[in-house]
Amino acid sequence: MQSRDQFNSVTLAAPAKLNLFLKVLGRRSDGYHELETLMVSVGLYDTLRISPDPEGRLSMSCHDSGRVQTGAPKRELPPADADNLVLRAANLLRQITGTKQGARLELIKRIPMAAGLAGGSSDAAATLVGLNRLWNLQLAPHELHDFAAQLGSDIPFFLCSAAAAVCRGRGEIVEPLPLPLRLHFVIARPPGGLSTAAVFKQCRPSPCTWSSAQLVEACFQGRLDSMAICFHNSLQEPAERLCAEVGTLRRWFARQGFVGHMMSGSGTSYFGLCRSRRHAQQLAARLKAARLGDVFVAQSRP
Ligand code: C5P
Repeated sequence: MQSRDQFNSVTLAAPAKLNLFLKVLGRRSDGYHELETLMVSVGLYDTLRISPDPEGRLSMSCHDSGRVQTGAPKRELPPADADNLVLRAANLLRQITGTKQGARLELIKRIPMAAGLAGGSSDAAATLVGLNRLWNLQLAPHELHDFAAQLGSDIPFFLCSAAAAVCRGRGEIVEPLPLPLRLHFVIARPPGGLSTAAVFKQCRPSPCTWSSAQLVEACFQGRLDSMAICFHNSLQEPAERLCAEVGTLRRWFARQGFVGHMMSGSGTSYFGLCRSRRHAQQLAARLKAARLGDVFVAQSRP
C-alpha cells in the first residue's frame, strides 16, 4: 500500500482489485462460502488522509474525486457513518488496543461501490495500516491480519504488498504472488450495483474443473491467451440473474477484441484483459461511446 507522511498526517492510496479466478468450493457451516480466488491489485485508487484529532474524537468525511466525467452518472458515495468500514476499522483498533487517541479520516472515493472491486475493503485496510502508524500502536503484521479478517473477507489481501495473491478459506488466507508482467485492463461499472451477500446467496459450488494453478502457470509463461482461457467466476451466473446489465456488458465485451473478459468478484463490474496500454485505451474509448456505465483503464501494480 503506497503511503506518505506529512505534518503528522498519513496519506494512503487504497487500490481496487480484480478477481481473475473465483471458484466457490462449497457452503460452510458459518454461512460463508469456501473459495479459491486469484486477486490482482490494480491502479484505480481511493485516497485516505488521516490526521490526528487533539480532542480524541474519531470522525470521517467522504468526497468524490471532483473529476468531471461527461456522460457518466454522478458517483455514489458511501455514508460516512459508524457502518462505514473505515470507521469500523478505526473503532476496532481503539477497542482492542485501548488507545484513547482520535483521528480525522478523509476519504476521496474513485473506486465504485457495490462493484466487486473491494473499494470499501481496501479503504478499511488503509485505515488499519495508517492508524497503526499515526497512533504508534506497533501492531505486528499478523495482528493487523487478524483484525482485517474480523472486519471482512477481502480486507487481508490489501495488507499484503504483493501485486496479486491466491486467496482461500472465505478469502482471508492469502498467498502473495509476485506478477512477472504488467497486465492492462478496461473496467466497466454499469449503473446498477449488487450486494455481495445477495449474490453469494444465489450461488452454487462450481463445476469448473481447473484451479488457479493453471492461470498462475500461464501468467508466469507470459501467455495472455492461455491466462484468459483459465478465467472463471462462479458468481457471474447468479449476478447476471440479479442484474441484467452484467449480461449486457458480457455480450458487449465478447464482440470486441479483448484477450479475455469476465465479471469481477460479486459484480457488477466487468473487465477485459488487453495486450497493451494502447489497446486498453482504444477499447475503453469504444466502451465509453457505448454508454454502458463508468469506464476505467487500469494496470496491475508492480
Ligand atoms: O466478509 P464480508 O463481510 O465481505 O462478506 C459479505 C457477505 O458476503 C457475507 O455476509 C456473506 O454473506 C458473503 N460471503 C460469503 N462467502 C465468502 C465471503 C463473503 O458467503 N467467502
